[in-house]
Amino acid sequence: MSNNDFLVLKNITKAFGKAVVIDNLDLTIKRGTMVTLLGPSGCGKTTVLRLVAGLESPTEGQIFIDGEDVTKSSIQNRDICIVFQSYALFPHMSIGDNVGYGLRMQGVGAEERKQRVKEALELVDLAGFEDRYVDQISGGQQQRVALARALILKPKVLLFDEPLSNLDANLRRSMREKIRELQQRLGITSLYVTHDQTEAFAVSDEVIVMHKGKIMQKAPAKELYLHPNSLFLANFMGESSIFNGQLNQNQVTVNGYQFSLPDAEKFGIANGECLVGIRPEAISLKTEGEPSQLCQIKSAIYMGNHWEIVATWGGQELMINANPDNFDENTQTAYVHLAEHGVFLLNKE
Ligand SMILES: Nc1ncnc2c1ncn2[C@@H]1O[C@H](COP(=O)(O)OP(=O)(O)OP(=O)(O)O)[C@@H](O)[C@H]1O
Ligand SMILES: [Mg+2]
Repeated sequence: MSNNDFLVLKNITKAFGKAVVIDNLDLTIKRGTMVTLLGPSGCGKTTVLRLVAGLESPTEGQIFIDGEDVTKSSIQNRDICIVFQSYALFPHMSIGDNVGYGLRMQGVGAEERKQRVKEALELVDLAGFEDRYVDQISGGQQQRVALARALILKPKVLLFDEPLSNLDANLRRSMREKIRELQQRLGITSLYVTHDQTEAFAVSDEVIVMHKGKIMQKAPAKELYLHPNSLFLANFMGESSIFNGQLNQNQVTVNGYQFSLPDAEKFGIANGECLVGIRPEAISLKTEGEPSQLCQIKSAIYMGNHWEIVATWGGQELMINANPDNFDENTQTAYVHLAEHGVFLLNKE
């Protein structure tokens, strides 16, 4: 464990009765970084958070915070805060008292509390909201109060469980930017749970994709998208069409169409048969090409900033996103050209 490994889960297994919900999971979050757990419903994300917070204890394994084994420590002694989807604010208390609640429990005096509440509310752009009540502010503001209530305690680790699910799309975007900005500015080590890929990409240094209690891949967003390590990842992260193909050095062949993929060795695939994943944006449609590049357009939907096209290529469906200026909706056939960005290789299973 290096000095920078701030939150470490080692061989963590959690079973409820006979059901193994977290299966021998290893996870490290570097000091001051934010990592997201992303995965389908029921894969164990909340359970991981609850284990870190001390709301559950693991069946096996150890949890370390800043080098200290906290596996058996109580919730209070872990110095951790969670921001939930339901803001869990006290309706009978003013905003100021809600934010200062944790400090009061710690026995911090009124004078200091007042000052720190003021600072915490300023951090979340709610200066002067001390005397309002929960039912006098909007949902987005309530979530910011919940964030201030956590930040004021200067926790060692901040946990988020789908904190933005109750907000509308515009608010979600500004809130996630706020969370990311504060996390980076204050350098708080954070673990963020979501099932929303955009949110995961927007807030984190690294994304962990979970499935059935296991980690499938952990990497920065760009790496996950460009180099998914399995069919599960390819299907879970964005869209792609998967074809059988052949690899020979940096040359890939699909449906008889050969193209070069300069970073092919990054996929760690041996020469020979493989699977070729093609992201919709990796394709440009042109009026000329080899016969092997010809596809038939089945449908095209105008989405405003792009055309969402389904074509048939070599007897298989191919999803294509085309630039609004580069596609005529009457097109029936076109030639597929592949860009390097958005094509990935997988071992044949
Ligand atoms: N206290 C419990 N007793 C028994 N089973 C539980 C308990 N808590 C969670 N589980 C089970 O563990 C699995 C993982 O649950 P968890 O809440 O961690 O999933 P999640 O990834 O957070 O899902 P979601 O995206 O729907 O919130 C589920 O199958 C759930 O039913
Ligand atoms: Mg959950």
